[in-house]
Amino acid sequence: MNNTVSKLLLGKKREPQALSAESFAPANIALCKYWGKRDSALNLPLTSSLSISLGEKGANTRISVLDSAESDVVILNQERLAEESSFVKKLSAYLDLFRDVSDRFFQVETTSNIPVAAGLASSACGFAALIKALDKLYAWELDQKALSILARLGSGSACRSLWNGFVEWDRGQCMDGLDSHGYPLEVQWPELRIGLLIFEPLPKKISSRMAMEHTVQTSPFYKIWPIVVEEDLLKLKRAIKAHDFETFGSVAEANALKMHALMMTAKTPIVYGSPKTLEAQHRIWDCRHQGLAVYFTQDAGPNLKLLFLAKDLDTVKQGFPELEVIAPFGESA
Ligand code: PMV
Repeated sequence: MNNTVSKLLLGKKREPQALSAESFAPANIALCKYWGKRDSALNLPLTSSLSISLGEKGANTRISVLDSAESDVVILNQERLAEESSFVKKLSAYLDLFRDVSDRFFQVETTSNIPVAAGLASSACGFAALIKALDKLYAWELDQKALSILARLGSGSACRSLWNGFVEWDRGQCMDGLDSHGYPLEVQWPELRIGLLIFEPLPKKISSRMAMEHTVQTSPFYKIWPIVVEEDLLKLKRAIKAHDFETFGSVAEANALKMHALMMTAKTPIVYGSPKTLEAQHRIWDCRHQGLAVYFTQDAGPNLKLLFLAKDLDTVKQGFPELEVIAPFGESA
């Protein structure tokens, strides 16, 4: 058990209190990106970041205690994953953090309604759902902040998947990371829409963990990234509060482009976009040129997430018929 875990679970039960437990967590899309760690074992970021959760899009995870098993069993979207797969190894290493002396193994069954590992934050909602399910299984009754810190140990961005709506991840200052967690912004924006433009629902070529490390170490521009993020975060939070969509969209889009520009200047360069990504970006810029307020953001994959308002849904859909539209605050607007 690492230090963070033992501090948070001090005085809590060390034996499962049920045979299985289940929980759901939404996926989240970063509007101001997390790109770079100050501690890679604890997933402590170099900067704060800000996201929007995707409501009903996310992961549902059931964790069950296995009797007399020799390893964990991981089932993803009804398919049992090979023990040697990197996903299973990552998950088992995470479960090791919580395993009691009796070396208990688990079955983790996750159903995700978003493409896995296509840069759509699937690992984030997976780890958030898993820690919530573990909390139920052991009856720890941890608060959201503690769950966010523990989710972060699985995947950094998972710490933002504990809430709906806008969530800021405060980078924190402490070495043990107990002050590095998400918290929700108390702002609703029912008119906001997110469109998933999925060209390639395939696993990404380079993990975000490796790509981040490589960028921090080799991009000559990385040193300005924390300054960029500080400015973008402030602008985004103001725009969200004022429901100023054009500022919101343009700052989020520019932030994503700056993150990808950093990666392109790494040695050797990392390019997550495909020709389809670039073609869609041009289509979006053309739409804007014609007066339509639509913006995009992009994570560690080729797919894009469009940002627009409910009033423009029909026009945006005409331009992008393949779009899957999400209303992060519900369908009321
Ligand atoms: O938490 P990770 O290791 O999956 O990294 C997430 C990285 C980005 O999605 C590109 C940015 C972010 O803030 O979510």
